[in-house]
Amino acid sequence: MRDAGARRRNRELVAHLQEAGVLTDPAVAAAFQSVLRHQFLPGRRLAYVYEDTAIPTKTDERGLALSSSSQPAIMALMLQQLALQPGQRVLEIGAGTGYNAALMARLVSPGGAVYTLDIDEEVCAQARANLGAAGVEEVQVVDADGAAGWPEAAPFDRLIVTASADDLAPAWPYQLLDEGRLVVPLALAGPAHLCVAFVKRGRVLESDSLSCCGFLPMRGEMGFDVRLAEPDGTLPLPGRPTWISLPAADMSAGFKTWLALTRPGFVQHRLHPEAPLVFGLRDERGTALAVPEREALWIYAFGEGQEAAGRLLAAHREWAPTRPNPEHLTVAAYPTGEEPAAQAGQMRFARPRFTFLVTRP
Ligand SMILES: C[S@@+](CC[C@H](N)C(=O)[O-])C[C@H]1O[C@@H](n2cnc3c(N)ncnc32)[C@H](O)[C@@H]1O
Repeated sequence: MRDAGARRRNRELVAHLQEAGVLTDPAVAAAFQSVLRHQFLPGRRLAYVYEDTAIPTKTDERGLALSSSSQPAIMALMLQQLALQPGQRVLEIGAGTGYNAALMARLVSPGGAVYTLDIDEEVCAQARANLGAAGVEEVQVVDADGAAGWPEAAPFDRLIVTASADDLAPAWPYQLLDEGRLVVPLALAGPAHLCVAFVKRGRVLESDSLSCCGFLPMRGEMGFDVRLAEPDGTLPLPGRPTWISLPAADMSAGFKTWLALTRPGFVQHRLHPEAPLVFGLRDERGTALAVPEREALWIYAFGEGQEAAGRLLAAHREWAPTRPNPEHLTVAAYPTGEEPAAQAGQMRFARPRFTFLVTRP
């Protein structure tokens, strides 16, 4: 009875993802049809399990999520970016509930192999139990920090990271075959979280698709300061209105993420401790912030922020006619020290292990 109800709800979820234009690949859709999410979320209400939402499964003492079942729409996008084929070997970093690993097991069948790592022993035990109860035998769950990949089973055709990273671990491309794909949620700048599908070309990784996403940050050796998304530096108060405004709706239409990824000096601030985050640009002389007021974003200059305000306005003028979303950008990752100089219009994000060059079309 519960199973029939779950199948119906699952069909509805898959139909919703297809109608929303998120789930387009027939093989990925078939995997979602055949693997039932509730088997990986024991004890949860079916109505909740089959919503298109992320479901936390483990929290720390402050109530912050340590593990979760990711949002099905994001899982679908990432699996499509990964482009798994029957017979392939795939490594997942972030086993969580085991649900994504079970979907991948369908996609690489027959003849493939799925290895999934989680840094959390308790999470691994639960993933093994869930996979066992769902009758999925082709997945090996390993309790390990994904920063080192899984050399015992390398090389892989595909590697997927299901926690966010602000850099790449050198082990990931090293354990990937040439032309292999690495899909990873990258935190490059402020609010910009992009799921990047990289293709390995020798020492360089080149993106061939990007999608917007949000993920729990990695823990362990690749852990990073999530406060990247929090206020940045102190503000030279008080601010002065520049009498320039931008349409407020453009913030949700992707302008903020675009700005963060294409212009140097992106910043976020709170004008007072309880106020929402506002964003803008900064240079060595001052800061310009877009502050929502009366249905618009009014640009305020702080310190000598007039030039930053001009750059903010120019960025908006470039973005507004076609409203390119961040998915139109391309990203190349070079081992740090081996990257070419950034060309005009390219943004460079240097991290200890890899340097990322972002190019706009
Ligand atoms: C969003 S959940 C993964 C969801 C999972 N793929 C699923 O289908 O349910 C992220 C997982 O990454 C794990 N994680 C975080 N840092 C890790 C690391 N360094 N190595 C391996 N796993 C890690 C967390 O313990 C958590 O279980």
